[in-house]
Amino acid sequence: MKIPFEAEYRRRYHDLLEEVFDSDFLSEGRMVRRFETEMSACLGGPETVAVCNAGLGLLALLEAAGVGGGEVIVPSNTFMATPLAAIRAGADVVFADCNREDLCLSLTDLKTRITSRTRAVIVVHIGGHIAFEIEEMAAYLAERDIALIEDCAHAHGAEYNGRQAGTYGLGGVYSFYATKTMPLGEGGLVVTRDARAAEFVRSWRNYGKYDYKVSGFNARMNEMTAALGLVQLERLPRILAWKRDLAAKYDRIFEKRVRLPRNMVSGYYKYIVFERPLAEETGRVFDSPCHEIMGRSGDGLANTDWVKSNHACAPIYYGWDRAESTPEALAAHLLS
Ligand SMILES: Cc1ncc(COP(=O)(O)O)c(C=O)c1O
Repeated sequence: MKIPFEAEYRRRYHDLLEEVFDSDFLSEGRMVRRFETEMSACLGGPETVAVCNAGLGLLALLEAAGVGGGEVIVPSNTFMATPLAAIRAGADVVFADCNREDLCLSLTDLKTRITSRTRAVIVVHIGGHIAFEIEEMAAYLAERDIALIEDCAHAHGAEYNGRQAGTYGLGGVYSFYATKTMPLGEGGLVVTRDARAAEFVRSWRNYGKYDYKVSGFNARMNEMTAALGLVQLERLPRILAWKRDLAAKYDRIFEKRVRLPRNMVSGYYKYIVFERPLAEETGRVFDSPCHEIMGRSGDGLANTDWVKSNHACAPIYYGWDRAESTPEALAAHLLS
């Protein structure tokens, strides 16, 4: 399959690259700042710090939250980047269960895992929607002074009650990896409304420059990637509209599927159904839950285990060649 990237956006990217070369800065220049500013506007005004990938963004934000020596609660139903970031930040990972309805961290289960050592909770917005219980979760954790961090790797274009992912707690981290809804090849964005956390992450991504009070590393985004980011941001509405059109057709086909609550808008990184097998599918969101990969016991992770064996993803990647088909033709193809 060819990765679609329309001629008009290629030209736009080439023009921006000319600007990069004319500026004499290949890193730490104007393009990254422009990208951060435009991402902030698109996300409703939080501070934004562009980084070279989401994993390091998570690590920086966890260190900003001061989780070292404590526990971080993480859903087992996620990609290994989430628990690995917590481990690298010096915390013990406590796995929690997910809900079957949204595949995201369960508030009921989370409550049973909190101890006096809990420093942070990472909620992962799975598949393009925001965790259905995010508002209650944010309120519950704020009352207990526990940092809420959002893994927004899948959440491009997601909104709940008019609010975007990454703005509910201390902060969130988006990924721009090659297969994500807004692909830059590699890249990430830390989003936060906390000025102190933003300053910490900004310093962290640049080895703690200039006063070295923050013990960071190199997580900078370069100017060429930021230029591509500006182009992909212009292109994002087109990609989201395309995905939402296809999702509307799927909604007519699949009875057993993730059902979004009122006021939830998904960016449809994935289209998740509870029917298997489909004649054509893009596998599962995650092949194996993290507790299984890490050889941990699955105590109380029954929904996570259920999700593993009971869901599949119908194709919804941008450029899928059957997307223009009628719902009837899609049903005939996928359910044959
Ligand atoms: C849920 C989740 N978190 C974090 C990441 C890590 O993103 P990156 O590859 O940009 O470090 C991914 C990437 O696939 C992911 O799916």
